Amino acid sequence: MTKETQLQVEAIKNGTVIDHIPANIGIKVLKLFKMHTTQERVTIGLNLPSSLQGSKDLIKIENTFITEDQANQLALYAPKATVNQIENYEVVKKLALSLPSQIRAIFKCPNSNCISHGEPVDSSFTVITKRDDIQLKCKYCEKVFSREVVTEHI
Ligand code: CTP
Ligand code: ZN
Repeated sequence: MTKETQLQVEAIKNGTVIDHIPANIGIKVLKLFKMHTTQERVTIGLNLPSSLQGSKDLIKIENTFITEDQANQLALYAPKATVNQIENYEVVKKLALSLPSQIRAIFKCPNSNCISHGEPVDSSFTVITKRDDIQLKCKYCEKVFSREVVTEHI
């Protein structure tokens, strides 16, 4: 099954492969993280068969490497994604994501009255986890939102 998905999107020589993105959010991830604004070659696979998930989306960006911190910013949105660093066609690093304590400049604050909307500032949320429940607290208006409210509000 792995070999099948490998054949569906060409291997890359150097760069980053974001794998196991839930099906249907690949395009959102691409835009949210502004990966489509690069000059490098980006290849995407949507609704690829996956043994773990049924189907998945996948994004490959050549000649671009992302830090562990940057990768973790994805965790709220695609917690099961893996970020692979490819060098000379080999996977040299595979990051499983972990939830960061802060999420910056990705999601807009769902509170329409929040001052972050009128100012040239990056959004910023503190991640609050209570057992399995994840909430986000806006740095500017200090309101607390559920994970779903923030990730759907883009
Ligand atoms: N990949 C790539 N170019 C390469 C090497 C790997 O695009 N030169 C991609 C593969 O297609 C795969 C991902 O990077 O989507 C991870 O590769 P690999 O670890 O070999 O695959 P799996 O073992 O299936 O990974 P996992 O266990 O994370 O599912
Ligand atoms: Zn706010």
